[in-house]
Amino acid sequence: MHIRNVIIDCDTGVDDALALLLALRSPTLDVIGITCVAGNVDIDKVVRNTLVTVEHAGKKVPVYRGASGPLLCPLETAAYAHGQDGLGNIGFPPPSGREAAEHAVDFLVETYMQATQPVLLITQAPLTNIALALLKEPRLAERIPAMVMMAGGIDGGNVTAAAEFNVWVDPEAADIVFRSPIPKTMVALDPIREGGTLEESDIAAIEQSGAPWCQMAARLARWQMGRRWAAKISPPDLAAMAVAIDPSIAQSEMYHVAIETQGRHTRGMTVVDRRPFRRLREGLPEPNVNTVTAIDNLRFRRLVTDTWRVQQ
Ligand code: BDR
Repeated sequence: MHIRNVIIDCDTGVDDALALLLALRSPTLDVIGITCVAGNVDIDKVVRNTLVTVEHAGKKVPVYRGASGPLLCPLETAAYAHGQDGLGNIGFPPPSGREAAEHAVDFLVETYMQATQPVLLITQAPLTNIALALLKEPRLAERIPAMVMMAGGIDGGNVTAAAEFNVWVDPEAADIVFRSPIPKTMVALDPIREGGTLEESDIAAIEQSGAPWCQMAARLARWQMGRRWAAKISPPDLAAMAVAIDPSIAQSEMYHVAIETQGRHTRGMTVVDRRPFRRLREGLPEPNVNTVTAIDNLRFRRLVTDTWRVQQ
């Protein structure tokens, strides 16, 4: 069942902004709120970058400030991957709009406890806000109908050999969320390497539109290409958003996924149990995560470029 209403939790850096632009311009989604959390950059920059992105998308959607750091450990940001300002230091002007007065965690709790229609939760950031909301109101776990996360790695990480950034920043929060009964889809790093890629020709096509969201997307994409000396880019949050919009572009398997919070070399790892004969063993926990294993790249590229170019 397609769920039209969505809440997006983000730590707006470059690929978060691309994902937000896709969601906000998608004809099949209504973004009812965006919650911010510290991650790629500090919370002030995340809120600012999110407001800037919403304005470039030409939409009015409330933006809520959330946690300024992980549950238990100090915050480590990723300015090396997103620029000091989180948006590639391109010089986007400050937003004219303001953040909402309510805290992100209160917004999450109130919205889900009062919802009469299903609301999909899409996360592209450390899971601190979601864990705090579950701690504040445990009944939330039964009220969130589905969640799509950019999180984790099936076969290794990016920020360490074992851990992907969003989980590594706040493993205790991820542990709370992954152990919760919320139906979860995990878009990890692996399917994105081949299946969430925009090419030079896609960016050139987007650039031809004068729409502010196309211009912003193209500038961010060009910045990423320049930084990586590459003619294509694979922004993880954009791929996760595309899967949230159209799950049929992805292949997936149900696996049991646990979060490593202790390991000296593996803290923040998503431990994905892919043992083929696992079901023959008694007493093991049931598979708990719909794990995306592949994304159809042609359909991904079409979804992204059509959404931005057609929706004028
Ligand atoms: C994830 O970490 C961040 O740098 C990106 O925004 C993305 O959410 C990829 O590991």
